[in-house]
Amino acid sequence: MSTYARLPVSFERGEGAWLWDTTGKKYLDALSGVAVCGLGHAHPAVAEAVCDQARRLVHTSNIYGIAKQQELAERLATLSGLDKAFFCNSGAEANEAAIKLARLYGHKQGITVPTIVVAENSFHGRTLATLTATGSRKAQAGFEPLVRGFLRVAYNDLEALQTIAKNSPDVVAVLLEPIQGEGGVNVPDDDYLAGVRALCDQQGWLMMLDEVQTGMGRTGKWFAFQHSAIVPDVMTLAKGLANGVPIGACLARGEAAEVFKPGNHATTFGGNPLACSAALAVLDVIEKNDLTARAAAVGDRIVDRLCDRLINCEGAECKIVDDIRSLGLMIGIELDRPCGALVAKALEQGLLINVTAERVIRLLPPLIISDQEADQIADSVAELVIAFARDSGA
Ligand SMILES: Cc1ncc(COP(=O)(O)O)c(C=O)c1O
Repeated sequence: MSTYARLPVSFERGEGAWLWDTTGKKYLDALSGVAVCGLGHAHPAVAEAVCDQARRLVHTSNIYGIAKQQELAERLATLSGLDKAFFCNSGAEANEAAIKLARLYGHKQGITVPTIVVAENSFHGRTLATLTATGSRKAQAGFEPLVRGFLRVAYNDLEALQTIAKNSPDVVAVLLEPIQGEGGVNVPDDDYLAGVRALCDQQGWLMMLDEVQTGMGRTGKWFAFQHSAIVPDVMTLAKGLANGVPIGACLARGEAAEVFKPGNHATTFGGNPLACSAALAVLDVIEKNDLTARAAAVGDRIVDRLCDRLINCEGAECKIVDDIRSLGLMIGIELDRPCGALVAKALEQGLLINVTAERVIRLLPPLIISDQEADQIADSVAELVIAFARDSGA
């Protein structure tokens, strides 16, 4: 179906941060399949884990014990400080699990219309409930009636949440991205998540963080909440978890981890041996190569270089760049005008980037990029912006 306005390119091979299209042209990937292939393309450890598992056992069913799933849950619990995991196949499904968990948690306390607070400009997926949670009228238009039980607040605004706490007794949870990805790489104030945590504790709300894009080392920690010295009650993961093999996870701790009972929630494919083997290989590689620290360092390197070229200068380009926001390898360059056309221009030059929220160039390179590749990304993006400023008469 025509659900995608696809770019005129198709790739047939990848290695590390590089892709080759069907004509043999080579591209530097500064997007990683939108924050999925954190280890780059065709990583040998993931390939080996998938091949090895496929030769032994791909799928049984969640009717039976799955040793690899158990192992993955334990590893993620140790890394995150949460207690238990439910595995599914995508980010939207992980958030659906979180939404259902919060509703059940509310009903168990006698709240008949349990309500979840979500943020403006958020993105949580395309299923009906996650689309309702998503703060984009454009994404929602035409799919009404949407789902009941959500309240929207401005992102990074603790006062707005406090007002809800005073006026809305049916709230059971808050669902937020620690950094908004699709919404424009919006990095909240340093004390925002700690403030949300304190309010959730005071109100008995579940603090639920959507780390589908920010998780798995991308921001320089395993999970973005770890920059804030807090632990959420519920966290969702997907994208980078198995480097492109479809998997999602909803983790929870304490009371939240005990909400679901047999029969409350399920999936056929979720957490099967194949996907879990790929995810376990991803965890090993991130750990062995300290890729969280690497993401922090190389992200700073790219941003410093971008700032030198695009912020600390006298040229026209510096007038069109409103802001550069980042944490680790999640980088947004906000221009003062729509810049979607830059995606095709970059592609022509052999570079994969993305533009989100109309005016924000988004870079999500693999965590394994070399310094040289990082410099190439920064220089190419700077050149694109400089040419764009010149061509659009800044
Ligand atoms: C923060 C966040 N949550 C949820 C999703 C949805 O994930 P999926 O496309 O795997 O359903 C995305 C996808 O971009 C995302 O960025």
